[in-house]
Amino acid sequence: MPGKLKVGVLVSGGGTNLQAIIDHAKDGRLDAEVVVVISDVGDAFALERARSAGIPAAFINPRDYPDRNPFNRALIEKLREHEVELVALAGYLRITSDEFVDAFEGRIMNIHPSLIPSFCGKGMHGLRVHQAALDCGVKVTGCTVHFVTKEVDAGPIIIQRTAPVMDDDTAETLSARVLEQEHEAYSEAIQLFGQGRLRVEGRRVRVLTKA
Ligand code: GRF
Repeated sequence: MPGKLKVGVLVSGGGTNLQAIIDHAKDGRLDAEVVVVISDVGDAFALERARSAGIPAAFINPRDYPDRNPFNRALIEKLREHEVELVALAGYLRITSDEFVDAFEGRIMNIHPSLIPSFCGKGMHGLRVHQAALDCGVKVTGCTVHFVTKEVDAGPIIIQRTAPVMDDDTAETLSARVLEQEHEAYSEAIQLFGQGRLRVEGRRVRVLTKA
């Protein structure tokens, strides 16, 4: 039997998506192991979550580097050190460098809290995404797990899950409903990747019934 998929997770915040991945890996729903968690924010609660689960947690401070290229090189090095096979961006707020995308080509995923291509792109993160959905008056929103390419939020879509928008929603209540879907979707996408069941054809991802 092949070993478990080694996943490295990049985070900037609270890390509920990270927690869901850790929990699913632990309860056997996900045949993967989170081998390292890296943050660009020193006091990100996600790092605490990693430490509590006994996972190596690293803070790489962007201020220690003159610009994003050497910073991204440090990330690459740390991920390679842990022999990461899949990089999962989970609430990671920086745009990865081209070199980073090349270093892990086809092996980087991101989760975004809307149904891409709506409410995404540069600067669209956190509650802003949900406020934009509310302002637009959509009745359904959701989340998207996609492969990361050099264009922000435009890589091949792996999984989307929906959530209804209620009349009395605020960005906060909508965010909470979408997060529940995110927690399922991310593990599902990672599992499919680990099983070799994702075939990328241009912008489309075909999910194979068998690897
Ligand atoms: C999630 O909504 C994710 O889609 C977005 O940032 C949020 C992170 O939440 N990219 P958490 O840190 O996983 O709780």
